[in-house]
Amino acid sequence: MTVLAIETSCDETAVAILRGRDDRAAAELLASEVASQIAAHEKYGGIVPEIASRNHLLYAPQLLYRTASAAKIDLSDVDAFAATSGPGLASSLMIGASIAKGLAIGFGKPYLAINHLEGHLLSPFFGGADRDEEIRPNISLIVSGGHTMLVRVHALCDYQVVGRTVDDAAGEAFDKVAKMLGLGYPGGPEIEKLARDGDPNRFDLPRSMLGSENFSFSGLKTAVRYLLPKVVGRFCETPDQERRLTQTPYKLDDRVLADLCASFQQAIVDVVVTKTIAAAQKYDVDLVTVSGGVSCNQELRRQLHEACSRKGLEFKNAEPWLCTDNAAMIAFAALLRLRAGFESQVTEEIDPNLALV
Ligand code: KG4
Ligand code: ZN
Repeated sequence: MTVLAIETSCDETAVAILRGRDDRAAAELLASEVASQIAAHEKYGGIVPEIASRNHLLYAPQLLYRTASAAKIDLSDVDAFAATSGPGLASSLMIGASIAKGLAIGFGKPYLAINHLEGHLLSPFFGGADRDEEIRPNISLIVSGGHTMLVRVHALCDYQVVGRTVDDAAGEAFDKVAKMLGLGYPGGPEIEKLARDGDPNRFDLPRSMLGSENFSFSGLKTAVRYLLPKVVGRFCETPDQERRLTQTPYKLDDRVLADLCASFQQAIVDVVVTKTIAAAQKYDVDLVTVSGGVSCNQELRRQLHEACSRKGLEFKNAEPWLCTDNAAMIAFAALLRLRAGFESQVTEEIDPNLALV
């Protein structure tokens, strides 16, 4: 069974072709391509939806032919076509979904509408050594640019959201703080790089809502904003001056910048590790999984892994290339759903606010 998946939920255009085996031997990723649009949006300081969709229109057909050629298959040999149907930017989702639906109709094959969050959530199970793994009950932490969630996974398609962010997502906090510090986009990798040489205990930053299963990161972001004028040795005397100062990307001393990045990163890691372990204990599962762009962060992976080991919990994370947006995770979710007998109607609409459950 060969599945072709297209992911265009935000600013990455991605296509992947995955071949599943009838005997449940590990599925083979025949090709996976991602075209990043970071450069096109960087100068605007954020993603411009119309630019994103125009680029998807441009890149998706190119990636389609490039993946088919890398996989050495003809599109007519694909058994099912899948696309991310939400959540994401409406004008971006439409492009991938329309192409996948067109292919499914044209070749008379099934179409699968896949939830982007389910793609992330299942990704730690992808790439089993020799067999496709059963989706075992686990507590899944999804940390991306748009979402921060704790999900109780009972089995494939059987999920319960037990916690979510009430304001910014973890990745969004990384991106916004990086912007304040005058670093590039996406902010997570930039902060991680600088944090390597920093002291995570130098600045005392808040760990919000530790007693709840939900998350809040906007207080942390604000704390960094108000710390900045102080660490550059300037104090605000009037609200107007304060506004101006807090909006300026600061030129910080290298030591201060590294310590600030390390302290900020540690505050996020402390919060997500504490809540994930608490949820695993509360719901009595023996497996913790983590996915989404922020789970590329080595310090987060290391500390969550260590915390799981201390509590006797198994820990699974996806390879870093599978953590940021890609189509391989969408193809994997589609393959598991196809095997379980699911199929979507081509009349199914995209949904920018699609919920996981
Ligand atoms: O999953 P993803 O590619 O897109 C969404 O579905 O949102 O996640 C992108 C987010 C960005 O906010 C980016 O800053 C963050 O993941 N990110 C990281 C790292 N790599 C990417 N955050 C912290 N450390 C990293 N190494
Ligand atoms: Zn994502």
